Amino acid sequence: MPPVSPTAALGHGVGLRRPHWAELLQQPERVDFVELLADNFLGRGGAPARMADRVRETWPCVLHGVALSIGGPAPLDTDYLDAVAALARRTGARWYTDHVCFSNAFGVELHELVPLPCTREAVRHVVERVKQVQARLGPGLPFGLENATTYLRFPQDELGEAEFLTEILNGADCGLLLDVNNVYVNSVNHGFDPRAFIDALPLRRVLQIHLAGHEWVDGTIIDTHGTTMIPEVLDLYAYTLERTGPVSTLVEWDNRIPPLDVLLAENDRVRARAAAVLCGGGAA
Ligand SMILES: [Fe+2]
Repeated sequence: MPPVSPTAALGHGVGLRRPHWAELLQQPERVDFVELLADNFLGRGGAPARMADRVRETWPCVLHGVALSIGGPAPLDTDYLDAVAALARRTGARWYTDHVCFSNAFGVELHELVPLPCTREAVRHVVERVKQVQARLGPGLPFGLENATTYLRFPQDELGEAEFLTEILNGADCGLLLDVNNVYVNSVNHGFDPRAFIDALPLRRVLQIHLAGHEWVDGTIIDTHGTTMIPEVLDLYAYTLERTGPVSTLVEWDNRIPPLDVLLAENDRVRARAAAVLCGGGAA
């Protein structure tokens, strides 16, 4: 029998948030895998360390981060990457992802995922740094980048966002964490066709999908991760799955974290939609 691919589709999971730890451990069968926000576990003893060990015993898991700053000007933090790799060994994580953005510059933590200008210079910069990340992590921990939400465009932009992402992913030979809600949010805020955007991506590189809720604030959609997702996002997810086949899919909920049952119901709604698509029901 061939070995199981480290990036095989894991099914349907949720971002593991602390208010849900104990309750989810009592009903582990409700999710197929979990995603840990690596930054909340790195270098921590006590309860986070014990939870990391419980995760390893209980579910397949993946690591997601917000502090790598792959597009930033500062040298990559190799201590940070080594800590991520150690957490991956501890939890048995299948892969590690962060965002196409920068989050620190000139020694200052920005506490924001700041978008990059879609320029060829930025492509070269990010590709080079992804290769550094891959070399540091080694082949046992695949790395992927997530498409971010953006609320502005730069006058320096030379490429569309899909082309920008594609050149980075192909240039660095790395995975894509495709956040379908982010595609939808950007499509409304910037006025493009989200299905054409999906079609323009190198879908063979999709490691994982993120889904989440968003909210309207003063005429703009904000990616709040604080509510259920709208039908249009589920429809775009179905459209994507028709083109990718099964993909590990994760529901993110980071603000106004609801009771666990609400989060699991959202995950079950996604699971049902995926089953309808993949079992021949189509995206409609
Ligand atoms: Fe996401």
